[in-house]
Amino acid sequence: MNAHTPASAETAPQYIIPTEAYLSADYAQAERDLLWRKVWQVACREEELPEVGNYVTYEILDDSIIVIRTADGSLKAHHNACRHRGRRLVDGCGSAKRLACKFHGWEWDIDGNNTRVVREAGYAGRLSAEELRLGAVRVGTWGGWVFINMDPDCEPLETYLADVKTMLDPFELDRMRYRWRQWLHFPCNWKVAVEAFNEGYHVLGTHPQLAVFSDKPTWSKARGIHGQFGPEGGEGVGGGTGGAAGASDMRIGLAVSLNKVWEEVWATTTQTMVDVANRLVDELPEGTATPAVFAHFMSRVIEEDAKRGVNWPKLDPAAVAASGADWHIFPNTVIIHGPTFALCYRARPDGSDPDSCIFEVYTLERYPEGEEPRPENKHCPVIEEGPWPLVLTQDFSNMGEVQRGMKSLSFRGARPHPVEEVAVVNFHRALAQYMGRGGPVLID
Ligand code: FES
Ligand SMILES: [Fe+2]
Repeated sequence: MNAHTPASAETAPQYIIPTEAYLSADYAQAERDLLWRKVWQVACREEELPEVGNYVTYEILDDSIIVIRTADGSLKAHHNACRHRGRRLVDGCGSAKRLACKFHGWEWDIDGNNTRVVREAGYAGRLSAEELRLGAVRVGTWGGWVFINMDPDCEPLETYLADVKTMLDPFELDRMRYRWRQWLHFPCNWKVAVEAFNEGYHVLGTHPQLAVFSDKPTWSKARGIHGQFGPEGGEGVGGGTGGAAGASDMRIGLAVSLNKVWEEVWATTTQTMVDVANRLVDELPEGTATPAVFAHFMSRVIEEDAKRGVNWPKLDPAAVAASGADWHIFPNTVIIHGPTFALCYRARPDGSDPDSCIFEVYTLERYPEGEEPRPENKHCPVIEEGPWPLVLTQDFSNMGEVQRGMKSLSFRGARPHPVEEVAVVNFHRALAQYMGRGGPVLID
């Protein structure tokens, strides 16, 4: 029995998730104070802030946070609200030597200290430097991401991430850079959007073309407040190779699977992997056993990447297997990770409407130094193949329909798969802790 042998179906507990967290306006409103102002959340990637003065604003409901690179190279985060009469100071991203309010001209240095109050004499010395400082927000980095937390008493990012950090550190996600970034609005709750990506149970129903040779079940685990899933059986070498599981000729299986993933996901593999897979039939004799095909494939990919200046992290196969395929970082980020690439999602509420969210998708890849592409974050509101990869359009097709279907008179709550959707149940258990409300209900 390996570490991920799922609990048997007979003993795996079954839960119902009430619809309140997805549909209730009151719940959505309460999330601002109880969840979003308490949790660590991804604000941006460090690569967006290479130089002193570079800033990104991160918007979450009523709060806007300025993340900025300071003179000593560290990052700071400030509330984006003028201390005079509250005007937002900056929008979007950019570079600043100081933060100046456009209303009456008060100014701050990038560390958040006030440097100018226009005609200050009128306040007759009654303004303290402390009162004038921009509101401080906690900031931390991991894996190349910049996280913020508005709660001054929050636990350190490292303990918050816990297993996420331990199990994904070997992949050196901090060495990866954006390959493409796209976003859109969805007519669904942000949790519905997250849950379209934190389980592998939907592949047969939503992406039947990806289960080319066989359809294997997935395992799913709670990791504190976070969750993960991965392929059952451990066949494959990660990165879009799972679809080849069961192929009678793995040379062909890998080539078919990786080309499909490259064309239909635009992610979870790389051009190097596809090119090496396409040469397997020339490099290996017919009848080569599957483990030998995998071994050859991996050593060739590492060799080819090294030639172009992309070095693979040293990975222990057991640690790779234990890390699975996909992590849900509570509350709203999902990472499908690999040795030189990652496909990531972030979902945020769009105002207080429980039926609407902002959804972002981006891919990361490890590049030769100096060849990082720095792509724009493109708004792609049309859900069609072309602006979006086919597989994502398939995922997207479920999201609004789940939100609508859950409102049916007949629908009493979600019934996650007891073995393959453990991470979904765990998400709601963690939400219930923050929200102080009922979470998943155990049923017989
Ligand atoms: S609101 Fe900012 S200076 Fe007046
Ligand atoms: Fe999917």
